[in-house]
Amino acid sequence: MRIALYSRQVDGLKRLIEQLATDKRVSHLLTVPVSSPSAEELVLHNVDVLILDDLIGEWIAPAELEKLSNLNPDVLIMLIARQDSSELFVDAVGAGVRSILRWPATPAEIDHTVAQCLDRLSRHGARHDGRMFTILAAKGGSGATFVVLSLAYVWATRFDKRTLIIDLDLQYGDATFGLGGSKHRSNVVQVAQDETLDPSYLESACVPLRRNLFLLPSPVSLDEAARLEPARLENLLALASRLFDVVVIDVPSRIDRLGTCCMEHSNQVIQVVAPTVVDLRNQQRQLRYLHDLGIPVAKVGTLINRMPTADRRRRNVDPFATEIERHLSARTLGTLPRDDDAAALAIGAGESVVTVAPDSPLSRALDTVASSLLGVTGVAPSARSRWSRWLSALRR
Ligand SMILES: Nc1ncnc2c1ncn2[C@@H]1O[C@H](COP(=O)(O)OP(=O)(O)O)[C@@H](O)[C@H]1O
Ligand SMILES: [Mg+2]
Repeated sequence: MRIALYSRQVDGLKRLIEQLATDKRVSHLLTVPVSSPSAEELVLHNVDVLILDDLIGEWIAPAELEKLSNLNPDVLIMLIARQDSSELFVDAVGAGVRSILRWPATPAEIDHTVAQCLDRLSRHGARHDGRMFTILAAKGGSGATFVVLSLAYVWATRFDKRTLIIDLDLQYGDATFGLGGSKHRSNVVQVAQDETLDPSYLESACVPLRRNLFLLPSPVSLDEAARLEPARLENLLALASRLFDVVVIDVPSRIDRLGTCCMEHSNQVIQVVAPTVVDLRNQQRQLRYLHDLGIPVAKVGTLINRMPTADRRRRNVDPFATEIERHLSARTLGTLPRDDDAAALAIGAGESVVTVAPDSPLSRALDTVASSLLGVTGVAPSARSRWSRWLSALRR
């Protein structure tokens, strides 16, 4: 479900925004702070639910809202009512408002209203369940691309979700190589900037990697990379969320407008952090930047990657690792152990680590994180190929 929330008092809705941002039924949450005197900026493209925070009357006249609602019959309009006025309610319902949330509302009331909206959208056949994740490293080399590829692989092949990887590391994107990338014709910039972009074009431009798994690669020229406009990217993301069950975006750790746009549209933002002091410092800084950019911190979580295993800890490879894990625990979505052999084997084979080392603690941890991020319980791994069994036997 894609929500656009228009408000003059975004700060006062922090609790609502945090709850919606972390609600797994909400795939997109766009918060628009209203500053203009009238509703010229209202855009309902790719929106399922429009939430107006007390704006009917002084910002948008009921008649104008009715016109808008008639033009967009699939969009469900919700009103956050800050005053208890039966006159306002009658006007609002007459203008097309289908759901009213009295403010202030309790978490249970918000939850109930979201459920009501979903139910109504389902009845119209206009419900979109696509989930979107933006994944970025606290510091280059922490393993963001590795995590993107591994999670996407598990979602696609084990959980049967149609999954799209978008490589938005426009300068150094290397997602193409992780799963035995072949030569391809299109890249994410070309596709997003194309004026004729529609569902069938997008489907045909995505590079198939495995069953259910697709990739929009990064471009290989700086000129091409510089062409991407945030508005075009937004359009691409909205379209992708309708066509795929899961969209996972690999963004560079240096935050720019494109990365911010991805985060705004994602259900969850995942910082990949290695348990080192430098990573921890960068992670804290990055979190502050995200907060300053208006990304609800509630939807940002960290994934600790390359955690030294018990063996390595005994040898004191990194005495700070456990302390850092403990420090991050409140925001942690999971921990992935360091396994250089499995990672090297995967790169060499152009395969996912969960295929080449299915029984490793790293693969098992990836399975756990993949299922908890989607809120689904684990599915029995599909039958392994003889080839992968052979490779894993070699490792023992
Ligand atoms: N858990 C892990 N154990 C061992 N090696 C890993 C692990 N995660 C990632 N790597 C390796 O670390 C290197 C850098 O990872 P990469 O995903 O390219 O980082 P980033 O995208 O954050 O720059 C890659 O060679 C990758 O295979
Ligand atoms: Mg990378």
